[in-house]
Amino acid sequence: MSRRKLIAGNWKMNGSLAANQSLVQELLAGIGQPACDVVVCPPMAYLDQVRQLLAGSPVIALGAQNVSQHDNGAFTGDVSASMLQDVGVRYAIVGHSERRQHQAETDVHVAIKAQRALAAGITPIVCVGETLREREEGMTEFIVQRQLAAVIHLGGQGIRDIVVAYEPVWAIGTGKTATPEQAQAVHAVLRAQLRAASDDAAARVRILYGGSMNAGNAAELLAQPDIDGGLIGGAALKAPDFLKIVAAAG
Ligand code: PGA
Repeated sequence: MSRRKLIAGNWKMNGSLAANQSLVQELLAGIGQPACDVVVCPPMAYLDQVRQLLAGSPVIALGAQNVSQHDNGAFTGDVSASMLQDVGVRYAIVGHSERRQHQAETDVHVAIKAQRALAAGITPIVCVGETLREREEGMTEFIVQRQLAAVIHLGGQGIRDIVVAYEPVWAIGTGKTATPEQAQAVHAVLRAQLRAASDDAAARVRILYGGSMNAGNAAELLAQPDIDGGLIGGAALKAPDFLKIVAAAG
């Protein structure tokens, strides 16, 4: 089964009303009819602005960078999956390494967040990845399998509707990309883990690569058999770069 590729822009905590407007306008003007799915994930405060700028674009979907693990109620500062769904969000990044590290999110939190998103009809983009130290200690497979196992355990058949993003922590924002062979090796491990849970999930679930993917290296990463797209940070903030990555996924 061939999976339609997905290119997701993670804007992180960047942007302003003015900057978002010009970025989205440039993207819409240049994107044409890509052969892949495309999503942009602005900060929460700008979701409604970007939704309006996208104006129901059939080409670029709206995503969030996080979702609460709670349903609703007294959780000051949190934003629930149903609220995100209400304002037009179709994808939500969960378990990004920056949140695992700075907000102490555990595998269980991440699995619950993925469940909340699925229950609201939002596609969770579940991030997994090892630190440099874990890689050097030969722990890469163990770490990514442990992170994905929590989501599979809670998700049951629902996991056929998730997206996974393999993001080696040492490659994020550092300019050090995993080689296509390094990335493919981990993607194959994740694919096998999905297969052990369900053939259907293994066939359907898109596994994105993230970590210093850019206009120059996207094509060879995306040519790997188990790399089904990219989660793009820095290069998603520059329309020409992001558009080149989208074109490379065609
Ligand atoms: P980067 O970030 O492309 O800037 O390395 C990717 C990410 O953290 O999602």
